[in-house]
Amino acid sequence: MIDLGTKTLETERLILRRFESDDIEELFYNGYITDEVMAENLSWSPCKTIDEQAKIINSWIEQYEKKDFYKWLIETKDTHELIGGIDVCNLYKRKNYGEIGYCIWSKYWNKGYATEAIRRVIEYLLIDCDFHLVEAHHAGYNPASGRVMEKAGMKKDGELRERRLDKKTGVYTPQIYYSILKNEL
Ligand SMILES: CC(C)(COP(=O)(O)OP(=O)(O)OC[C@H]1O[C@@H](n2cnc3c(N)ncnc32)[C@H](O)[C@@H]1OP(=O)(O)O)[C@@H](O)C(=O)NCCC(=O)NCCS
Repeated sequence: MIDLGTKTLETERLILRRFESDDIEELFYNGYITDEVMAENLSWSPCKTIDEQAKIINSWIEQYEKKDFYKWLIETKDTHELIGGIDVCNLYKRKNYGEIGYCIWSKYWNKGYATEAIRRVIEYLLIDCDFHLVEAHHAGYNPASGRVMEKAGMKKDGELRERRLDKKTGVYTPQIYYSILKNEL
């Protein structure tokens, strides 16, 4: 594993870049971390105040000094709208792999943005950073995320029974695991 940190990455329609303090207001008022619909599927809750959000984003900005910190803001190339985020949420250095997490604001769903961003990050981690494997997992009540993993070239490893409680229905669902190896790119 080569620690390269959060470098700017590009795809056909997107720029993946570091969060900056200038983004805080737009991210709050346009609903990035405050997007309740998006957060229904996430383990964290949306921020209620801009100060709360600023604290979180500033802590990410400080962590960019570390070369093993990977957290990108996703921006459209043509209109420069901020549409989501993607990160390495768990890094297993000794085992040479990492887990990615991602979210797209709900008003931008189903335009292929998550798939495009994930493909680029997977390529960066496997080729540039020399990871052996990238994994991701999603709750059974969130099939769209599994579809994105498939479209990004990941393969299903399996599922763990009743690991996630669907807040909306009160029903436990499995946690479903996907991964991609360097030689599967
Ligand atoms: C999951 C998420 C990232 C997808 O982002 P996106 O930009 O809409 O994804 P894409 O447009 O690249 O692909 C979405 C795919 O899911 C499919 N999909 C959408 N809703 C679906 C559903 N209820 N069941 C099955 N597939 C679904 C879409 O049809 C599309 O597949 P297709 O291209 O074959 O038609 C977005 O919904 C999100 O941020 N959700 C909340 C946060 C989250 O769940 N993060 C992942 C945690 S594991």
